[in-house]
Amino acid sequence: CRIVVLISGGGSNLQSLIDCAARDELGGGSIAAVFSNKPEAGGLQRAAEAGIATRCINHTDFDSRDSFDLALRTEIDTFHPDLVILAGFMRILTADFVKHYRGRLINIHPSLLPKYPGLRTHQRAIDAGDSEAGATVHFVTEELDGGPPIIQAKVPINSGDTAETLAQKVLSKEHRIYPLAARWFAEGRLSLTGSKAVLDDQAL
Ligand code: GRF
Repeated sequence: CRIVVLISGGGSNLQSLIDCAARDELGGGSIAAVFSNKPEAGGLQRAAEAGIATRCINHTDFDSRDSFDLALRTEIDTFHPDLVILAGFMRILTADFVKHYRGRLINIHPSLLPKYPGLRTHQRAIDAGDSEAGATVHFVTEELDGGPPIIQAKVPINSGDTAETLAQKVLSKEHRIYPLAARWFAEGRLSLTGSKAVLDDQAL
């Protein structure tokens, strides 16, 4: 399973995927390339250190979302990916892009979706007085953070938690569930069937 990972930032989720691939824990999946829309993204360095091809397609070089997405897609496809993983990629993708990769495009979002799509998820969970928070891996569809969920992990919210401490706790869970989802996909056990995520023969 050839994997392309898209990032915009530090890339701690990317690192956990790299580490799992190195330990042969991605079901035979291997990371063919890492793409960033930001030249300064720390994850590019992590990829380079692991000997993975890197590409930066800077969205500020394009005058529309469509032209950026088309350039991104064209370059991604030179790597012939079976799976495209969004790992902290902070651009909304166009419907055409999402359609092109339908069933082979997954994202991780730092909330217990369907709660808190979008940004500032940790602060919103704290402000709402929630007792737990978490992360969700899901197939990407045209609806922002609205595609079929694959796996979730939960953490308790304690009275002393801030958005920062909660983000750290959630991140450490992200680092476990994202490689697991990638592994299921690489093993051929996970698919998007109609509008449902299906693991083996069981609808999730
Ligand atoms: C993670 O919290 C992820 O859920 C969100 O962006 C963050 C990326 O962190 N989509 P990192 O770059 O993987 O460290």
